[in-house]
Amino acid sequence: MTGASRGIGRAIAEALAGEGITLLLHGRDEAALAATRQLVEAKGGRATTLAFDLRDRGQINEMVAQANAEPLDALVNNAGIAVVKPYDALTVDEWLETLAINVTAPFLLTQQLAPQMPRGSSIVNILSPAAKTGFPGWSSYCMSKFALEGFSQSLREELRSSGVRVINIYPSATDTDIWSGVEGEWPREKMIAAHDVAAAVAYALAQPATVVVENVSVASLAGTL
Ligand SMILES: NC(=O)c1ccc[n+]([C@@H]2O[C@H](COP(=O)([O-])OP(=O)(O)OC[C@H]3O[C@@H](n4cnc5c(N)ncnc54)[C@H](OP(=O)(O)O)[C@@H]3O)[C@@H](O)[C@H]2O)c1
Repeated sequence: MTGASRGIGRAIAEALAGEGITLLLHGRDEAALAATRQLVEAKGGRATTLAFDLRDRGQINEMVAQANAEPLDALVNNAGIAVVKPYDALTVDEWLETLAINVTAPFLLTQQLAPQMPRGSSIVNILSPAAKTGFPGWSSYCMSKFALEGFSQSLREELRSSGVRVINIYPSATDTDIWSGVEGEWPREKMIAAHDVAAAVAYALAQPATVVVENVSVASLAGTL
């Protein structure tokens, strides 16, 4: 799983942890990854950590090699960034960074891992309402999530005959650190919690191997953002 050092990724790690479950936890912050590993181990699971920047394609190859050491039940493409500013203030570096982390990394991991994945295994992509709707100030983020949405929908059809499931999760605004980098007042108390998103992922993965929960939107009753 990518982006397991905090936020939604850490909550997914906790939700999936248990006896007989081994997780490969990716992020950049080694201390934060170690804290996630401890949470996994406290629930009886096992975890190894791998810290690197997803813009580094060589390190992505290393993650693939480690993930392929055992048959893989699931790839969770969770890591993501949001650079929120008007389209005419975005730099090309911010645009390409968003593309690299939010789209190219999931593509490369999927391309290299899916061919070896057994029937009934799953690829989980953490998307957003921003994969379907444009929001002012969020053009680079929306660009990336729309792109991942298109890849994911095509992938689902390409993998259908191999029995690998593609599960798309659409959390509405979720109270995580990602909002610390977004200017403006955001009502964090109205947001859903990372654990709410993780519960949806765990539910989708727990379905029989012949069933795919294709698209899950998780929203707050307190209002939408
Ligand atoms: N929070 C929301 O409202 C919301 C709503 C819908 C969808 N999402 C999506 O949910 C996913 C997780 O978001 P979050 O809210 O949990 O964000 P978060 O708390 O900011 O966590 C982001 C995660 O991505 C990792 N990451 C960021 N840049 C990276 C890079 N260059 N290389 C490797 N890892 C990198 C971070 O690792 P380090 O901390 O170790 O750097 C961290 O584990 C994202 O795809 C996001 O778009 C979030």
